[in-house]
Amino acid sequence: MVSAEPLKVAVLGCGSVGSQVVRLLSEQSEDLAARIGAPVELVGVGVRRLDAPREVEVPEGLLTTDSAALVTRADVVVEVIGGIEPARGLILSALEHGASVVTANKALLAEDGPTLFEAAAKADRDLYYEAAVAGAIPILRPLRESLAGDRVTRVLGIVNGTTNFILDKMDTAGSGFAEALEEAQELGYAEADPTADVEGFDAAAKAAILASLAFHTRVTAADVHREGISEVTAADVASAAEMGCVVKLLAICELRRQPGGEDAVAVRVHPAMIPRSHPLASVREAYNAVFVESEAAGQLMFYGPGAGGSPTASAVLGDLVTVARNRLAATRGAGESAYADLAVLPMGETVTRYHVAIDVDDRAGVLAAVAQAFAEHGVSIQTVRQEGRDDDAQLVVVSHEATDAQLSATVEHLQRMDIVREVTSVMRVEGGAE
Ligand code: HSE
Repeated sequence: MVSAEPLKVAVLGCGSVGSQVVRLLSEQSEDLAARIGAPVELVGVGVRRLDAPREVEVPEGLLTTDSAALVTRADVVVEVIGGIEPARGLILSALEHGASVVTANKALLAEDGPTLFEAAAKADRDLYYEAAVAGAIPILRPLRESLAGDRVTRVLGIVNGTTNFILDKMDTAGSGFAEALEEAQELGYAEADPTADVEGFDAAAKAAILASLAFHTRVTAADVHREGISEVTAADVASAAEMGCVVKLLAICELRRQPGGEDAVAVRVHPAMIPRSHPLASVREAYNAVFVESEAAGQLMFYGPGAGGSPTASAVLGDLVTVARNRLAATRGAGESAYADLAVLPMGETVTRYHVAIDVDDRAGVLAAVAQAFAEHGVSIQTVRQEGRDDDAQLVVVSHEATDAQLSATVEHLQRMDIVREVTSVMRVEGGAE
């Protein structure tokens, strides 16, 4: 049954996502009303400039530059401006004025999520943000609701489409990083300033959000160890291929049992080699995927388009329907769950494996000396391969699991050794059997 009282919706931002939200609100208004139980009325679209070019025609009189006033007269505020301010101030004001909020703002949630969650709890209103991680892919609701009875132990995500496109090109076409980035920019996958994507900031924000939900612990962007892909070379990608691996930028969120028996959380974003047999290796081009491991369910994978106006708007509209239904039922969904309050491990204590390629002199005793360097730092070697000979000899060593501190100390040690001409590639190896 559709009640007579319309639900007033304000949209903040009318860029690629906002304009698609406006389009879907209009095109699907009858279905939305039936699914919610009340008609949805778009009461305004907050923008910076009234005369900017837009993908959709916004109904007469709805565009406004006064977002501060707009949020005070809406039941649901959809924030798709991005960035920290004015988004944070507008969301807080919307909650104070009694609106429910739907946002796609990963940077804000990763930097200052607790402030928003506390404001939502105080106002007794919903704050939903499915679109903040991996675009259209439903992953936050599964972590928050579907897996709420299980124990998630690891989340591995390809959560940035730009970098996945670049690494995929490097793998399939043998391109170098610069060439692949240029192609990504020409095709509109990468921004003119690609820093947020290629240096892993975007993925780190998403990793913080995923880890917070998976482990019921507050994790902010500052807790996430971050390395981008700008240093990944064609030689790294070729070396991965020789091992039957592919290089991906991974967001890795892990639960780690500590020697004292307590759990801790490790959250990192960096390029890593994963076996081609791993489900994440098949994620091509600009697609995203999130691979979840939990004690009872086992392994789950969520796959789909992680960016773009229309896919992201799909996730926004899903949240809008949920918060609207909650309002009609005079209730709210689950708020922040941070009861576990686990410690976040520094990167040095994170456990991983390394692939190290070393140019060496090909003579007696070199392999033993290299193996000794690993042993001195307590790092066990899994495989060693030699390529070339004489002046062109290269050793490729893959370690067993060790702490990142042990592994990086080993690499520093190798770099100081006379018999080592150059350590040409160092990359973590993930997603495989030990
Ligand atoms: N720029 C991101 C990506 C999408 O390339 O996946 C928005 O988070």
